[in-house]
Amino acid sequence: MTRTVYVNGDYLPEEDAKVSVFDRSFLMADGVYEVTSVLGGKLIDFDGHLARLERSLGELDMQKPEAFDDLLEIHRELVRRNDLEDGMIYLQVSRGSAGDRDFIFPDPEEVKPTLVLFTQSKPGLADSPAAKTGIKVISIEDIRWGRRDIKTVQLLYPSMGKMMAIKAGCDDAWLVEDGFVTEGTSNNAYIVKDGKIITRQLSNDILHGITRAAVLRFAREAQMEVEERSFTLDEAKAADEAFITSASQFVMPVVEIDGVTLGDGAPGKVAPRLREIYLDESLKNAI
Ligand code: PDD
Repeated sequence: MTRTVYVNGDYLPEEDAKVSVFDRSFLMADGVYEVTSVLGGKLIDFDGHLARLERSLGELDMQKPEAFDDLLEIHRELVRRNDLEDGMIYLQVSRGSAGDRDFIFPDPEEVKPTLVLFTQSKPGLADSPAAKTGIKVISIEDIRWGRRDIKTVQLLYPSMGKMMAIKAGCDDAWLVEDGFVTEGTSNNAYIVKDGKIITRQLSNDILHGITRAAVLRFAREAQMEVEERSFTLDEAKAADEAFITSASQFVMPVVEIDGVTLGDGAPGKVAPRLREIYLDESLKNAI
């Protein structure tokens, strides 16, 4: 089945879905994005993703696409047209195309943003075998720019980090700045010590994960102790457990950091429990 993709108001077969070579996301990485997961044909945490999109656009002085208020309907229409059961919807907004290359932002009265959405089918997304075994991460220096709170499409370094991890026989990389873990290449990072869940506080240094917000809320509701503070790589290697969160991986246990095994090398108690609570609660609230 050919995928149906949304481009600036049109639902098109993917082979006909095109944007200009002058699009600023292509030339300048001048674009922001969101990834919303779909389980059982329903959207998880949609309101959070929409709110963060609005914030990313505002921080970059980028106008909202005309269809901003229709985004829920567009997501649902893509789910319908693509018969999507489990997977993700990728959404990207760029500052559009002024028909040439220029460092100066185009006049927003003349150049409208480009809006693209497409589906990614991942049958059984919530039953990932990796959630049972846990994943292995390496650490790499965090050399990204200083506004990691904005979800831009500048993903070259995270992509390189993932490749470095794979080359090292691991699954992902944790980014480290001044000895402290910021986050994963495409997820937020957590450790667990003596039952306490520790994750870096919100700032411009990390993406304000939508899954992070929900998981921390559920953890507190379940009377688990949460501490939002920076933690070092050494602390992480000495932790009882570790895990990551993201819209595409939910809560995923980490069992090894730079070759150091955490606990007995299998997912501990906290991460699997949080995964279960997160999936249960999110499914109840899916729209
Ligand atoms: N990544 N940190 C970074 C750097 C991310 O790219 C992501 C998400 C997260 C987790 O945010 P959320 O819980 O809202 O998904 C944290 C998405 C999934 C991606 O790039 O595919």
